[in-house]
This record gives sequence, structure tokens and C-alpha cells, in this order.
Amino acid sequence: MDVLSGRTATPPPIWLMRQAGRYLPEYRKVRATAKGFLDLCYTPDLAAEVTLQPIRRFGFDAAILFSDILVIPDAMDRNVRFKEGEGPLLDPIDADGIDRLAMPDVRSHLAPVLQTVTRLRRDLPVETTLLGFCGAPWTIATYMIAGRGTPDQAPARLFAARNAKAFERLLDLIAEASAAYLVAQLDAGADAVQIFDSWAGVLGDVDFDAYAARPVKRIVDMVRAERPGAKIIAFAKGAGYNLKTYRQATGADAIGLDWTVPLDFAVELQKDGAVQGNLDPLKMVSGGDDLDRAVDRILDRLGNGPLIFNLGHGITPEADPANVERLVARIRSRGAAA
Ligand code: CP3
Repeated sequence: MDVLSGRTATPPPIWLMRQAGRYLPEYRKVRATAKGFLDLCYTPDLAAEVTLQPIRRFGFDAAILFSDILVIPDAMDRNVRFKEGEGPLLDPIDADGIDRLAMPDVRSHLAPVLQTVTRLRRDLPVETTLLGFCGAPWTIATYMIAGRGTPDQAPARLFAARNAKAFERLLDLIAEASAAYLVAQLDAGADAVQIFDSWAGVLGDVDFDAYAARPVKRIVDMVRAERPGAKIIAFAKGAGYNLKTYRQATGADAIGLDWTVPLDFAVELQKDGAVQGNLDPLKMVSGGDDLDRAVDRILDRLGNGPLIFNLGHGITPEADPANVERLVARIRSRGAAA
């Protein structure tokens, strides 16, 4: 929370995107007891348990609520399912469907997720920050339009170009629902929240401003109107040079950096406030000296300013928990010596 306020911490706090997940045997065990992935998200006992697993094992400085960004389209009745090996599936929406789309009551539809948040804040150590989250409107819209993940989000980009009005309405509805959802998470006990724009990298600069930055700013503004001072991290994966104006354009306290962001550029971005990232997630698979060198480079360049250490995207199922342990130990030993 200090780093989100722009202060420098040594060693820097660390958590990992997707820190609860299939690379952990204890997660796979709990996952096997749930009917489907969404059942896991909507069962507070199980969702709280898998959230706590990586905290117990690695002692991360932050826990992130176990849920998914697609609970917002699920609350909008878009028939969200997760097929084993296929990723998410939704009923694809068209312009008529967007016309008929109504604002969901997130507090009632997502009540089990909010219960998980409350339970987590009670069960976590006081020094562990609890992060809530939502998807950014652009990323959520890409799944709602295509009905699934696609390599470059061509369906959503084409839809936006052909149906500008309907697309704006869709982004507005998602932003409004997401802001209400984040406020509810803060009320339930989340200390700060992150907005995931995982598909920001497929947008050209004009579209980035209109579809990525502006809708995220709307969420930030709506959340802060209700909860002044709420701390918000915005992660626009693949945004590249568009990150230069992203913090100012959105009002986020910290900006997430994926692993392709050059550290020279990251140093520039850190002059305006906290940055979060940006180790290549595959280092958690490969490990070894190469991992240590990559960690040291980030600490050398960004460790003297407000930094939240993280990966540049979610940890993968192939990651070796021993490498995560090595990462945490390296950061804490180096940080203490600095
Ligand atoms: O970070 C955490 O540990 C908290 C939990 C979390 C999940 N998804 C759990 C999950 C968070 C923060 C997310 C966010 C999310 N979900 C994003 C944004 C971040 C990113 O990774 O880019 C996106 C795009 C989604 C949508 C989504 N959910 C996809 C595309 C998939 C399938 C891909 C995959 O990895 O299987 C999911 C499923 C999902 N969400 C899993 C987990 C642990 C794996 C499913 C399982 O365990 O059966």
C-alpha cells in the first residue's frame, strides 16, 4: 500500500499474477473437487482456500482474490463456461444483443465472490495486502464479442470499426458494472484493486486511447467518486509506447508492465509513480542463473523507486514452484543488502 502511494520499499513487495493456479499441486487438488472452474470461483470456502495457498507456501506480500475477469459477463447472463483445454466460451454478442443488454446487479449476482473477499481479509495476516480485480472493458468486450479467446481479437476490432455506437455502449456498460463491482470488493475488504487489460496490445494508438485508456479512466473515476483515495493498479499488457501516457490518462496509482517493456522505458515511467512487473513468466519454468540475472536487472534498474515486483503476465501451469521460491528468496536477500 505504501508503494501504491509512491513510496519506495526495500526489498520491494512481491506477488505474482495468477499466483493461485495449476502449477501448484495443492490447487489442482482443490480444483478436482469443484464441478467446474466457475463453481470454484463461486464457492467461498474453496476460492478462499486456493487464494491462501500461495501465501502460505511463498509468503507473498499480496494475495489476489481467486476469481476470474469473466464473472462480469457471467453476471450479464452471457452463458460463460470454461471447457477443459479450450479456455472460456460465451454466447457471442451482436449489436442487437448489446441493445438488449442490461446493467447487472453485481452485488447480488457476485455475492459469493464478495463473501470470499470478506473471509480472506479476516483470514489473511494483517501485513498481507488483499487485492481485488476486474477486467478492463476492452478485454472483457473481446471475449463477449468473439465468444472465446482469439489470437488477435480480430472479431472485436472488426465489430468496433463497423458498429462504433453499439461498441461504445458495450464498453460503457462493462465499465459501469466493473466500477460497481470494484467498489463492492473494496467494501467487502479488498485493500486495493487491479484492472486487467490483457488484450490492450492489439490496439493501434487511436483505438488504444478510445477503447483501452478512456474506459479504464471511467472505472477509476467512478470508483474514486464513491471511494475517494481507492488505490488502483492498471495493467495494459502489450501496450508498448502507449504506456507513456497511460498513468495520466487513467489516473491509476500504479501501472503494470509486461516483460517486453524495456527497463530504460520502465525507469522513465517510474518517475511518475509506482510500476509493477515485469519478469518474463517463463523464467519460472526455466529457472537457474538466468532467473537470478533477470531478477537482479529489474532490482538494479527499478529497485530504488516505487516498485511492486511481479511477473510481466500470469504464471504458467508449467512453472516450477521451486523457481518461485528461489525468486522470492533472491528479492528478499538482495533487497535487504541494498
Ligand atoms: O491471479 C490470480 O491468481 C487470481 C485469479 C485469476 C484467474 N484469472 C484465475 C484463473 C485472475 C486475476 C484471472 C484474470 C483473467 N482471466 C484474465 C486477465 C489476466 C490474464 O491472464 O491475461 C483473463 C484474460 C482471464 C480469462 C481466462 N480465464 C482465460 C483466457 C482462461 C483460460 C486460460 C487458462 O489459463 O486456462 C481462464 C481460466 C482461469 N482463470 C484459470 C485460472 C487459475 C485456469 C482454469 C483452471 O484452473 O481450470
